[in-house]
Amino acid sequence: MGRLALLGALVLSGEQGGLCVNQEERLIHHLFEEKGYDKEMRPVTSNDQVVDVYLALTLSNLISLVSRSSDLGIPPLQGWTDYRLQWNKSEFGDIEVLRLPPDMLWLPEIVLENNNDGLFEVAYYCNVLIYNTGYVYWLPPAIFRSACSINVDFFPFDWQNCTLKFSSLAYSALEISMHLKEDSDPETGKYYPVEWIIIDPEGFTENGEWEIIHRPARKNIHPESPPESSEHQDITFYLIIKRKPLFYIINIVTPCILIAFMTILVFYLPADSGEKMTLAISVLLAQSVFLLLISQRLPATSHAIPLIGKYLLFIMLLVTAVVVICVVVLNFHFRTPSTHIMSDWVREVFLESLPRLLGMSQQAENPAGAPCIRRFSSAGYIAKAEEYFSVKSRSELMFEKQSERHGLASRSSLWPLCLLMPSSRLPSQEKDNWNQVARILDRLCLFLITPMLVVGTLWIFLMGIYNHPPPLPFAGDPYNYQEENKRFI
Ligand SMILES: *[C@@H]1O[C@H](CO)[C@@H](O)[C@H](O)[C@H]1NC(C)=O
Ligand SMILES: *[C@@H]1O[C@H](CO)[C@@H](O)[C@H](O)[C@H]1NC(C)=O
Repeated sequence: MGRLALLGALVLSGEQGGLCVNQEERLIHHLFEEKGYDKEMRPVTSNDQVVDVYLALTLSNLISLVSRSSDLGIPPLQGWTDYRLQWNKSEFGDIEVLRLPPDMLWLPEIVLENNNDGLFEVAYYCNVLIYNTGYVYWLPPAIFRSACSINVDFFPFDWQNCTLKFSSLAYSALEISMHLKEDSDPETGKYYPVEWIIIDPEGFTENGEWEIIHRPARKNIHPESPPESSEHQDITFYLIIKRKPLFYIINIVTPCILIAFMTILVFYLPADSGEKMTLAISVLLAQSVFLLLISQRLPATSHAIPLIGKYLLFIMLLVTAVVVICVVVLNFHFRTPSTHIMSDWVREVFLESLPRLLGMSQQAENPAGAPCIRRFSSAGYIAKAEEYFSVKSRSELMFEKQSERHGLASRSSLWPLCLLMPSSRLPSQEKDNWNQVARILDRLCLFLITPMLVVGTLWIFLMGIYNHPPPLPFAGDPYNYQEENKRFI
């Protein structure tokens, strides 16, 4: 049953369509030949009349925004009244609307002025809709490549202000007057101008990278250029879009911060392990490889350094400084009395003042800086022995080691030994002191570099996170150009 009914409907509509073609042909003949339509003429009865052209923009897709251009898949809607295209509906089989190719008609020749690729034309010349009242309605789909200057200062936490400026190349303000499309409210029937870019929620595909914050539309009059010039008026659509930073946070910012904080560990690693340099250089290498990867993702411009670039530069400098400090620390650590003499101010600063400031209690217990026996590990013995051999006799050494082992080497029992050589301190103690200087230097740098890194990281990323577009699209204009706030005429 259902199928039969469907078939019947098909046949019926086909027959009606055939009828319409005849009527349409007659109507087209009537409009274009009998009445002598000339598409070069403006649709006005006298020369001083102005044609009102209405514009609206429907955003279907924001394709991309790369460095200096943005691709917007938007059909601009144009509407105007051509009095020559009116007909009496009842005379032409109730035809209300005609669909004709645009090259048959007069067109206001409105183009995107700030385009990027020199293609002023629309992508596809779809048909024009003509209503029996003479109202012409054209909705050509186009991919607009608008040239907008991109501000990369806050990349990847940036927002952009892109404009699409439409004006007529052929006609001045005295010939056509551009307006924003007017719509009527379905409830109250009052008219309002569409002061925003229309987004049809069903037809719009959201862009993965950009979020639309404001989308106002405005008619701009430029009084400084005369009305005869085409620059006097334009309809501009603004798109204020904010980058969605999640991709960059996961792929760039987080690894960057993690690598940066690795540098701190260099100061925590004991010099004896022999891995200090390896760690520092590894961090530097990781950082460089990362920089190489990122530089391909950054917008290539020398006008401004993006935020992430500033951070990478900061980290790079810091890691370089850490490598240098690391070398200095190792140099101090492996100094021996036979190669270096510890000057008094080093002793004063590194063995007395700084340990107290940094809260390294071990040294504070022995204010004289003369712990004759401090290390009890075998490594300590070996290190000590190396030094002792050069200065002490073997029997002396034996005696000292033995007394240590039997617990006889209390501090008091060894004091006289220390006092015997007041001018040249014990070599083992001197080497210990150099180790201590290295440790203090390490600790000092740990306490200096950590806050620097934390403050630098927080400062740069808070700056980015608080970089929001303004709440209103135009400074000094209290109207927010939203669909919810229609301004009725
Ligand atoms: C349209 O045509 C019908 C029938 O020919 C006529 O009655 C009517 O007055 C016409 N309307 C206008 C507005 O001319
Ligand atoms: C966007 O740019 C236009 C001019 O190009 C300006 O009038 C407007 O205030 C800007 N909007 C914002 C939010 O900066």
